Amino acid sequence: MAKILLVDDEPSILSVLSTLLKAEGYEVTPALGGEKAKEFIESENYDLMLSDIRMVPVNGMELLRLVHREKPALPVIMLTAYGSVETAIEALKLGAYDYITKPFKVDELLITVRRALEHNKAITENEELKAQLGARYHLENIVAESQAMQNVCEMIKKVAPTNAAILIQGDSGTGKELVAKAIHAYSHRKEKRFLAVNCAALPEPLLESEMFGHMKGSFTGAAANKEGLMEAAEGGTVFLDEISSMPLAIQGKFLRVLQEKEVRRVGGNRDIPIDVRVLAATNTNLETLIGEGRFREDLFYRLSVIPIVIKPLCERTEDILPLAYHFLQVETPQGKPSPVLDPEVAAVLEAYAWPGNVRELENAIKHGVTFARDNKITRDVLPPKIAATQVAAPAPTGGDKVEKLDPEKAKSLKAFLRSKEKEYLKQVLSMASGDKEKAAKSLKISLATLYRKLPEADSPKV
Ligand SMILES: Nc1ncnc2c1ncn2[C@@H]1O[C@H](COP(=O)(O)OP(=O)(O)OP(=O)(O)O)[C@@H](O)[C@H]1O
Ligand SMILES: [Mg+2]
Repeated sequence: MAKILLVDDEPSILSVLSTLLKAEGYEVTPALGGEKAKEFIESENYDLMLSDIRMVPVNGMELLRLVHREKPALPVIMLTAYGSVETAIEALKLGAYDYITKPFKVDELLITVRRALEHNKAITENEELKAQLGARYHLENIVAESQAMQNVCEMIKKVAPTNAAILIQGDSGTGKELVAKAIHAYSHRKEKRFLAVNCAALPEPLLESEMFGHMKGSFTGAAANKEGLMEAAEGGTVFLDEISSMPLAIQGKFLRVLQEKEVRRVGGNRDIPIDVRVLAATNTNLETLIGEGRFREDLFYRLSVIPIVIKPLCERTEDILPLAYHFLQVETPQGKPSPVLDPEVAAVLEAYAWPGNVRELENAIKHGVTFARDNKITRDVLPPKIAATQVAAPAPTGGDKVEKLDPEKAKSLKAFLRSKEKEYLKQVLSMASGDKEKAAKSLKISLATLYRKLPEADSPKV
């Protein structure tokens, strides 16, 4: 039986609502006034709170803030007098689930209550499901709004079930490791290990023993026999990060391991058969290194049976805001509403060049979430370098010409239409001086659709 906390400072309303909800089978705790409700919120757990907004001395908005802090998962429905919709919208922004205007129709009230309870149940179940899936790298967790990133996801799905060696190329922070983990997670090796080694982090002798293992006494400090990563990952995947830093001597040995599917520990005299899939990543162009004699061409061809190239973030700007929202969600503790991005911040994020790519964006959002005020991320809480970004004035409309049309580089029609649609929505919103209801009305779409199509219009619901 769902437990409902009912708050009003008017005894007659409290009594009527209480009778009504009890008749529906709910367990109701009536609280006469905000002060009383505070005690209940702090000491008990409820499935729903139904509260009047206008009460003295503690009003509904204050209670909402308290719930936000203390019981973020508790859905709240606000009751408001007819004509004070502004306050109700304010309440939605503060995270209330919905509001009902007084005088209300009984049916409407009961439907809203049922919906809020269902919604809460779905969220709780979803959280449980997410927790079960744990840290698995599902493609759903890879933000891919741009065509370039969608192609990468397609590749992941295609190559994951094979045993082919894959070379993942991309600048620092573009998501190479994420892609490698997704390939592993989608392969038949997923129950086995995914072991990563950073070839730039270890000096030559250590890298060699880390990869291939060693026998006791084979070098100073080799106190016992030790298996290397290639052995330890048996049946699974080895991820060689920054492969360009692999010393030439190890490149030769590694090539042999790949060809023979056998590994010999340092100081050992026995070849151990292995079944390991190799994924490698690089942020430098290996072909250039081959030209300079710093990377073996034969190893390059072994490793890059299938190359996957991840573009820098500045070349796939459609991904910027979806990634920002993704990280906002990731950074928000479970059950709490995610902070919203100030529209100006959305423009700044889109205009910034992101030399550190997705990782830099992730860090910027973390920074923003840490310093956000009133759950809002404004320009001044971004890292200073990003906050200083100049945002160009919006281009005059009608200038849709595509300069130097290169069919290879053209956006998909869907992506183009989506970006144009967004531009138009932003314009109408600004014509309506930011009044979203007004804008939605002129556009003849619902408010919810406006928020969905233009998430940067700070959404009241999370
Ligand atoms: N498309 C994406 N969707 C969601 N998260 C992403 C995406 N791309 C990158 N990330 C996240 O950004 C961060 C950096 O990604 P990752 O470590 O995979 O990059 P990298 O290319 O290996 O970087 P480096 O070259 O610095 O090692 C990680 O937290 C990763 O989960
Ligand atoms: Mg990496």
